[in-house]
Amino acid sequence: MINEARLESFVHQVVNDMAASMSGVMTNIGHKLGLYKSMAGAGAITPQQLAQRTSTKERYVQEWLNNQVAGGYVIYNSENRTYELPDEHAMVLANSESSVFLSPGFDLISSMWLDEDKTIAAFETGKGIAWQEHHPRLFCSCEAFFRNGYQAYLTNAWIPALEGVEAKLKAGGKVADIGCGHGASTIIMAQAFPNSTFFGFDYHFDSIATARLRAQAAGVADRVHFEVATAKNYPGKDYDLVCFMDCLHDMGDPVGAVKYTKETLTDNGTVLLVEPFAGKNIEDNINPIGRMYYAASTAICTPNSLSQEVGLGLGAQAGETKLSEVFSEAGFSQFRRATATPFNLILEARI
Ligand SMILES: C[S@@+](CC[C@H](N)C(=O)[O-])C[C@H]1O[C@@H](n2cnc3c(N)ncnc32)[C@H](O)[C@@H]1O
Repeated sequence: MINEARLESFVHQVVNDMAASMSGVMTNIGHKLGLYKSMAGAGAITPQQLAQRTSTKERYVQEWLNNQVAGGYVIYNSENRTYELPDEHAMVLANSESSVFLSPGFDLISSMWLDEDKTIAAFETGKGIAWQEHHPRLFCSCEAFFRNGYQAYLTNAWIPALEGVEAKLKAGGKVADIGCGHGASTIIMAQAFPNSTFFGFDYHFDSIATARLRAQAAGVADRVHFEVATAKNYPGKDYDLVCFMDCLHDMGDPVGAVKYTKETLTDNGTVLLVEPFAGKNIEDNINPIGRMYYAASTAICTPNSLSQEVGLGLGAQAGETKLSEVFSEAGFSQFRRATATPFNLILEARI
């Protein structure tokens, strides 16, 4: 027996999701064409003014603006037919230095659409999808999406929350950043701790090539070394700090990776593990962030893990308990939550 009210409410929910999905394309366009940037701090403007400022065509801009108004991103004044991006919305959509800048997330989502056929095939075959098999949009958007959180918290809050690590890095320590991607976190740490030396490792060749360019552009290439290596064979010993920034759950053999890391640390070295925020059970993750991460995990993180040896498929929402089991199985005796943000768990492990 169909419950009509329930049916109606669910149709509303899905229509809302369809509107959000289509509008995600609009958000990406607004970001890439600089429409949000031009509107930021500009007050109320007309489609003609926005088109002029961004060298785009007014008819398209007007239609786009109406979508933005319908979604509550932009405010419309019907008296003078002007459009305004509130300052708070500009922080999220236009200001690339803000800790709540979310626009790059939409390019990451677009990579999931572009790779949809591969994901469908993976469901059918059970095979994995390695990082390098994804559409290249994933790599830059992942960097841009995570970088602002690292900029805001990594050296200001997360490292200070670890026992004795900040002092070591100020004095001059040795740090490895495993699964470093384009090296955003490695470079941010190098800029904050000029007496320390940093090594970024990733198994994806193109990411390491980009990371090297980023280090040169940031003027830290003398203290930051990027190399292609896996989490189970990266070179070097006596690291004071080994970081896994949003990547341990992507690995096929996280226990093996952490076991290997144990051998590369100094006796009182530390592992900084940054993972997506998640509760222990699915019931704890029924919220928009959980929904988002389970989707990314299905299309990106879990297939990446299944493409590697062991293929544990930890998932992006593994949560603190499962992650602590990985570390105890690998022989670490201390594991604790150092701090957290709405998006991330910041965990500390010591031998
Ligand atoms: C979600 S991205 C995070 C990148 C970077 N840490 C960041 O926060 O921007 C995961 C990264 O882990 C890398 N990765 C996955 N498995 C790996 C492995 N077994 N060894 C080394 N890197 C690996 C991928 O190539 C990718 O760059």
